Amino acid sequence: MYSNQKDKNMNQNFIQYFTENFFQNKPEELDLFLKSLGKTIKKTIRINTNKIIIKDFESRFKKKWYILSPTFISNVFYAERWENFTDPEKRLWFSLEHLLGYFYIQELGASSSVHYLTEWKIDKNPYLILDMASSPGGKTTQLAEHYPNSFIVWNEFDKWRLAQLISNVERMGSDNVGLTYYNWLFFGKFTETFDRILLDAPCSWEWVGFKVQNNLKYWNIKNTKKIAELQSKLLEAALNSLKIGWEMLYSTCTLNKEENENVVNWILSKHPNCFEIMFEKRFWPHIDNTWGFFVCKIKKLKSINYKIKDKEITYNTYIKPLNKKENEILSNFCRDYWLDLKDYILYIFKQEVLAIKNVGNADMHSLQIQNLIKKFYLIKLGKKIWRIEGDKFVPNFYLGRDFELKLAPKYEIKDKKELDFYLKGNELIVVGNADLHSLHISSQSEFYQIKFANENIWLGSINKETGKIRNVFPVQWLRR
Ligand SMILES: C[S@@+](CC[C@H](N)C(=O)[O-])C[C@H]1O[C@@H](n2cnc3c(N)ncnc32)[C@H](O)[C@@H]1O
Repeated sequence: MYSNQKDKNMNQNFIQYFTENFFQNKPEELDLFLKSLGKTIKKTIRINTNKIIIKDFESRFKKKWYILSPTFISNVFYAERWENFTDPEKRLWFSLEHLLGYFYIQELGASSSVHYLTEWKIDKNPYLILDMASSPGGKTTQLAEHYPNSFIVWNEFDKWRLAQLISNVERMGSDNVGLTYYNWLFFGKFTETFDRILLDAPCSWEWVGFKVQNNLKYWNIKNTKKIAELQSKLLEAALNSLKIGWEMLYSTCTLNKEENENVVNWILSKHPNCFEIMFEKRFWPHIDNTWGFFVCKIKKLKSINYKIKDKEITYNTYIKPLNKKENEILSNFCRDYWLDLKDYILYIFKQEVLAIKNVGNADMHSLQIQNLIKKFYLIKLGKKIWRIEGDKFVPNFYLGRDFELKLAPKYEIKDKKELDFYLKGNELIVVGNADLHSLHISSQSEFYQIKFANENIWLGSINKETGKIRNVFPVQWLRR
């Protein structure tokens, strides 16, 4: 039993486990490790290079309240505040750059897993990729960035975590994606289907204990082993659905061996000679200055003997290409606003129009997407850009951020004060009361392209009775 008096309030079982497994005869390192728990680690952000080049982002951010400094990942930066402040507009979360999807607040160790999968590059090959447990979406959006020409099936089965996941994926503007709502184990049915898989597994959340040490009092080996059993099953299902000769990445935000090496070793001994471990790394808070994190890259060499109860695979028959009438209304909209969608494949699901960027040969790509729709029960596909209401297309407000509506009237937000007013949920005033009459006559258009400092930020619809642009800014991003 570890006997340092000053740690006597810590969970002794936790200390004993880590001593026996990692710090035998290394009392100084154990001490460093224990001291590092509960220390605040520097916040890191990941720049979305799909939307902005790193240099431009850095020069924009120089003017903000944060200092950026590099990490070992080229598009991940430490972001430290210049000063202590509480005003919402100065917080990273509410900065315009965050709202526009230019970056994601993501922990450094956790940001690394996708890099280990992609070998630190943007891979433009067209793969079919699975992100098996994806909420809140940090790694899904990262996969979409690193594999721009691939299709990513992002799965989440916890319905309470879906809204946040969707909101993050929409904010980051990923469109090469399709969301499934399968029980995670169900993926075992898709034998040898995916070229790449990320299983960022549910875990015992040791890292929460590292952040708030008090939480470590709940740590116990029985619980850890129970979670490891689930992780082993998930990993086996994932590996069954991986194609032979391809690789997957298993990661957790824990440090104990049960949920990491032991899970991997269990798979290796259950299916001898079927896999090769290509890489393993554990991120330690006292060495790497990150939360605890573990990554393991596995290559599949052979098929495995895997059984799953027979359950029918169905697909979402409601996702369809646009019919003639819908195409016609859409063409009219595109003509009226001079909106160019020729690079997109469009589908309709219930009343929503979904867009996926075309890559490579248009007909081939469209056929591939068609096949994917018939393979998985997708509940969301690409970017949702319109809703059909009767005979009208009502655009999603992201349209004004991700596309240019060249003929829409522009509303230029004049300064940071007005931007703040808008991002707090207020309506923008286009004309005063005296000019309302002229608005009815002069403007045929319902939609305004909202701009700030020459940048498209949103699409707004005007209320012609009041002369104001309605505020439909997503409530979760409102500055409060
Ligand atoms: C570590 S989080 C994933 C984080 C995410 N990949 C990201 O980067 O933002 C673990 C995921 O496991 C999911 N999960 C929870 N219970 C599960 C279970 N019983 N089986 C499989 N996954 C589960 C959670 O809903 C969550 O999406």
